Amino acid sequence: MTSSPFSTGCIELDASQLGGGRPALARLVPLEASAARGLALSIVAMEPWSVMGYPADALVTFLATPDGGVSRSVVEVQGVAAGVVSVRYPWLKGPYLELLALFPPFQNQGLGTALLAWLEGEALARGARNLWVCASAFNAAALRFYERHGFKRAAVLPGLVADGYDEILLRKFPLEPSA
Ligand SMILES: CC(C)(COP(=O)(O)OP(=O)(O)OC[C@H]1O[C@@H](n2cnc3c(N)ncnc32)[C@H](O)[C@@H]1OP(=O)(O)O)[C@@H](O)C(=O)NCCC(=O)NCCS
Repeated sequence: MTSSPFSTGCIELDASQLGGGRPALARLVPLEASAARGLALSIVAMEPWSVMGYPADALVTFLATPDGGVSRSVVEVQGVAAGVVSVRYPWLKGPYLELLALFPPFQNQGLGTALLAWLEGEALARGARNLWVCASAFNAAALRFYERHGFKRAAVLPGLVADGYDEILLRKFPLEPSA
């Protein structure tokens, strides 16, 4: 199990943010190593990981290896696993969202937006000036999602995740408390 400031949230979502009558409460639960394989198999089956042929075993190792600098959580909606979040903190004067994977039935309903709002709030509470994330260059939906939330492209990282694929490093800066 991994736990740190970014792993024990109980994210209360405004019901109006959620589509299709989804419940208004999402919870972050620390990811247990025993759950890593099942989660990894679900993640590698979806884009962008499926496109790059990302190996399930590598993701199991990533999710299950203890790392004191990382908080890995399962996103639960009404007790059902809706995805996985991994946050590295501290990173470059702020947290690095190193994995955000919501399973298809939970996408496009405002959950990612709520998670980014939670992450930014936690970062601000710790005096962070930056939020960081990477997305594959071909992952237009994710890039649009992060840019719509104020992230700007900071660098292109060739082959970071898989040979032949660029990752885009995005930065939200400066973080400012909302009025
Ligand atoms: C990318 C990702 C994290 C975004 O999270 P999400 O919960 O799907 O995002 P949101 O629902 O908050 O916003 C996404 C879209 O849904 C729309 N949306 C938001 N609330 C909505 C609602 N209540 N009803 C319908 N649509 C809604 C938004 O307008 C947005 O559309 P746009 O991107 O075309 O502008 C998620 O889709 C995901 O995990 N995708 C697969 C893995 C991935 O690409 N991860 C990121 C890079 S590693």
